[in-house]
Amino acid sequence: YEKLDKFRDDFLWGSASAAYQVEGAWDKDGKGESVWDVYTKLPGTTFKNTNGDVAVDHYNRYKEDVALMAEMGLKAYRFSIAWTRIYPDGKSEVNEEGLKFYENLIDELIANDIKPVITLYHWDLPKHLQDLYGGWESREIIHDFNKYCVTLFKRFGDKVKHWVSLNEQNIFMTLGYVTAMHPPAVKDQKRMLQANHIANLANATVIESFKTYVPGGMIGPSFAFGPVYPFSCNPKDVLSAENAEDLNCNWWLDVYCKGKYPAFAFKYYERLGIAPVIEEGDLELLERVKPDFIGINYYQTSTVAFNPLDGVGQSEGINNTGKKGTAKESGLPGVFKNAKNPHLETTNWDWAIDPTGLRVGLRRLTSKYNLPILITENGLGEFDKLEENDVVDDAHRIDYLSAHVKACKEAVSDGVDLLGYCTWSFTDLLSWLNGYQKRYGFVYIDRDENDQKDLRRIKKNSFYWYKNVISSNGEEL
Ligand code: BG6
Repeated sequence: YEKLDKFRDDFLWGSASAAYQVEGAWDKDGKGESVWDVYTKLPGTTFKNTNGDVAVDHYNRYKEDVALMAEMGLKAYRFSIAWTRIYPDGKSEVNEEGLKFYENLIDELIANDIKPVITLYHWDLPKHLQDLYGGWESREIIHDFNKYCVTLFKRFGDKVKHWVSLNEQNIFMTLGYVTAMHPPAVKDQKRMLQANHIANLANATVIESFKTYVPGGMIGPSFAFGPVYPFSCNPKDVLSAENAEDLNCNWWLDVYCKGKYPAFAFKYYERLGIAPVIEEGDLELLERVKPDFIGINYYQTSTVAFNPLDGVGQSEGINNTGKKGTAKESGLPGVFKNAKNPHLETTNWDWAIDPTGLRVGLRRLTSKYNLPILITENGLGEFDKLEENDVVDDAHRIDYLSAHVKACKEAVSDGVDLLGYCTWSFTDLLSWLNGYQKRYGFVYIDRDENDQKDLRRIKKNSFYWYKNVISSNGEEL
């Protein structure tokens, strides 16, 4: 286009985080244990055995962090609530001290004109529920999750209007039950598909409750979206891309937005004898409940090619979600195999850098589901360096984000209804399996894997860049 459309006036220029990755204070003020509190302490699970016991100490320093957000002019801050702070064992007694922490955070944000965006579940399942009934594998979780969410809707629903239900169900299910890289570290796709179906029901149940308790609010899931490209225009590659898009994207998005599983993928799992067992009433619930927006976490696209019946299979440590997948040889025989896209550069963690893919993805979602979209995460994980005089020159991050915001602007000009854009992340934080060396923030945190140092907050160059993006409402990139 010669001239691009402007972002809406109330565009949510935001940034995001998750409780386990920033808060620390893992056992303070009545908090119960989550599966991550335990998993990261098992030898060999994370880079240099790092955990989130202290993380970046946001629990104690949230006021300082919010002051930095206010200085930047942030319009929205997406954070998750730790279920175990609210219900320490996941189900019985509510913990007022936990609610109070989030109330203080919410009030501090609102006092600084920053809209809170609450994620209800960002992977830190109460350990007790995992032990008691296998967590997401039992239908009992639907009731307990709903009870926890309703507590939050009642307490915060008048102040907070933007909510995210489940963060990256596709990732926590695949890494939890297929590649065994996240808790509960199982390798069993049948169990994954069944637990995933239960998570779909839980998601729909809390969205339905939300409509009762938070009138005028908006809620949607956040999906790790890696749009799929065919490696070439060979029809066999194109068909493989259709297969991968159905199994890796539509398998979740169609359920959220249309209330049904995609036909090809369901049939494929039925043939393997691992399709989820659907009980009476399940499909009615899924069809009845729709999100108000689609949240997407966008990091990269994936590229796939034809894979014959005797071709490559899923290999160790690699998944097919497009987001965390690497370009090494892996795939599903007769369905697709992952390929490296020769047109794209990659990050130091081998993630394809593809701003155009974001535009493609936003367009696909709009054509398929016709719902507003909130970008709930997008960002670059890199080794940033603290230099003399507290300078952190993260030009690479500015380039990355700038290109992605431009892609958003193009998508808006294409007709996409985009509510906002949250970067991942505001401060540096714990990158689950990658320790603290993989940094995403606008604010550098002075700590590393072995040494908590002073956890000082230092503004990177990208901090000033994003401040200007916000004040110009995305006109100056
Ligand atoms: C998403 C998550 O998967 O991507 C975040 O919602 C995560 O919690 C982010 O940190 C980046 O992934 P990683 O593995 O680089 O930390």
